[in-house]
Amino acid sequence: MKINPATEQKINDIIEKMSLEEKVLQMFQMDKSAHKEAYSELSKLNIGSYLSIMGEEVDYLREKAKKTKNAIPPIFGIDAIHGHSLKNGATIFPSQLAMACSFNEELIEEMGAATAKEVNADGLDWVFSPVLCIARDTRWGRVDETFGEDPYLIGKLGAAIIRGYEKDGLVASCAKHYIGYGEATGGRDSYDTEVTLRKVRETFLPPFKEAVDAGTSTVMTAYGTLDGTPMTAHKELLTDVLRGELGFEGFVVTDYLNFKLISTKHRVAANPAEAARLGITAGNDMSMNAVAFIGAAIDEVKNGNIPEAAIDEAVRRILRVKANLGLFEEKERMPKSVIACKEHRELNHKLTRESLVLLKNNGVLPLKNAPAKIAVIGPNADNIANQYGDWTFTSHRPAEEFAQIKNDYYTVLRGVREIFPSSEVEYALGCPVCGEDGADIEKAVRIAESADIVILALGDELSQNGEAKDRADLELSGKQNELLRAVKATGTPVVTVMVTGKPLCIGEVLESSDAVVQMFGGGDLGGLCTAELIAGKFNPSGKLPISYPRATGALPCYYNGYSSWHWGKYCDVEKGALLSFGYGLSYTEYEYSDIAVSKTQVHMGESVKISANVTNKGAMAGDETVQLYVTDHYSSVMTPRINLRGFKKIHLEPGETKRVSFTVTPADLALVNRREETVVEPGKFTLYISPCAPDFTYEDGEYARVIEVVE
Ligand code: BGC
Repeated sequence: MKINPATEQKINDIIEKMSLEEKVLQMFQMDKSAHKEAYSELSKLNIGSYLSIMGEEVDYLREKAKKTKNAIPPIFGIDAIHGHSLKNGATIFPSQLAMACSFNEELIEEMGAATAKEVNADGLDWVFSPVLCIARDTRWGRVDETFGEDPYLIGKLGAAIIRGYEKDGLVASCAKHYIGYGEATGGRDSYDTEVTLRKVRETFLPPFKEAVDAGTSTVMTAYGTLDGTPMTAHKELLTDVLRGELGFEGFVVTDYLNFKLISTKHRVAANPAEAARLGITAGNDMSMNAVAFIGAAIDEVKNGNIPEAAIDEAVRRILRVKANLGLFEEKERMPKSVIACKEHRELNHKLTRESLVLLKNNGVLPLKNAPAKIAVIGPNADNIANQYGDWTFTSHRPAEEFAQIKNDYYTVLRGVREIFPSSEVEYALGCPVCGEDGADIEKAVRIAESADIVILALGDELSQNGEAKDRADLELSGKQNELLRAVKATGTPVVTVMVTGKPLCIGEVLESSDAVVQMFGGGDLGGLCTAELIAGKFNPSGKLPISYPRATGALPCYYNGYSSWHWGKYCDVEKGALLSFGYGLSYTEYEYSDIAVSKTQVHMGESVKISANVTNKGAMAGDETVQLYVTDHYSSVMTPRINLRGFKKIHLEPGETKRVSFTVTPADLALVNRREETVVEPGKFTLYISPCAPDFTYEDGEYARVIEVVE
């Protein structure tokens, strides 16, 4: 966010002319579908913002606003979280979780810029993205919206997408949900997050710091509560930390109806008036859709319970974002032709290829020759709504709007048909994702028996992903395991494609399949890229941004946990994650060697360099994500066993070696102590350069070097 003195002056001039009522209306954002009557009345006035409105109505409302006394342009927000995906026909990129598998900041930045163009061409100004929540209890329904489980990766990818959204001044981004929302106890969406402020600083704040530094224009207050305080009323975190410490200059919008929820659900405000007072003085600038907020805020100012200066400050922040976007001027939009244009499709193609993760391969892949007959089986082989996942027009818009899907999309079935034109392709559903209606496992077995290879697409469905769609059980639902067993029993090689919104318990899938590919929310091209991967048209490079549990009860299983747990395991489940953060196979083999540090003793405040050779030992060129991790041996508070502190994606031709270096700065070695200060404590640290999350060690090793920080 840029502060421009001339613009600030103009904003102050506008505010001076505004009545209290007009100011409070600027602090209101309206969703038409929730308030049909209020909408027709309020839209005659100069309200600050609208959400989820698309099409001609946007221009109509803009024109209407021009006829009001102050003629302040409204800002139009939309949940464009993986492309302008609520619009039928716009580019749908892979889900955030899928994008994270690419570990590719550059591509994600480009994706942000492409989305900004499509959103702007459609007349909208503001994307409610990125989601910076941390997905560690994966029972939570919104895992697919996140960049995974690691604060460092989330921060870097969040910053990249924000740079992309905001760089051409076309749209504002919105870092959400502030803060700790993904960590709600029991994976229960919008429930209380039982963590301390020290923990907030250690784990949940770093991605938001990255977002503010990258220039996000807005931040959204989470639904949940933190240690019993609703985020909407959390002055310390919304004002002292977000603005005071992180230096955020944009505006804060609440999540949907938060001003209402703090009295009706959280019960910390007795009525709308108290809710308005708590929420505004805590640091919220815009109320999403809580209509009672308007009257309550006006009354509270009149009664002297909210200082008008707080209202002025909120309006100032909102107008600042509008001015930065150029909304006060008549400005050209991007042409409609950018929506789903060739350039965005090519970008989507690249990103989708990098978003797939090869989880197992016994050598069956890539298919050397086109098989004579391919059996494509499974509930997610030809289901685009499940492949798109949440926040697309198929999940969030009225059914009539997607009766005819305009996107040129590829399910796995279409992809296989196109990439293997000379093969005979037969398809069977096998069974639905949930329940058994329409299951016909016998048919699936019949086509599997006569095929040379089975491509089996299993996974989850829309009813199992999204807001308030938390799962108590992450095993494959319905008859999917039965289908897997029956197909496996035919003896035909099985390539399983997991089309899911989150890591499921796939122990049996890994064991029974010859190869396994993970597609988290594949967007338009997930099916095409999966078929290309199977055919060896590119070398898979995706790595996991999140760990897989061995059983639902063995959650959480995130890689950066503590080492203080008795024996480190449940007595009835094998130790550790089934698949851990950073893991992912390719069609070649990378060798790591000659790891070295620039010095083994480092003075406080100094940086140290660590490097290693990475060699492509196989016959196929590929891209490898080289990862830097850090362990603090002893410290005044417990620290995670290992923490990601860097990653670099490099290209290697067959036989090629590259030396990869990282500079480890004091910030990479820091912890948050009991006084909530971020400090480096002297002592030993292990630094690792490795292809995935390494095992914790106190010793030098293949991937590890120990250094000592001295006073
Ligand atoms: C979600 C937000 C979203 C908002 C507007 C809420 O229910 O939690 O992520 O941006 O709705 O649609």
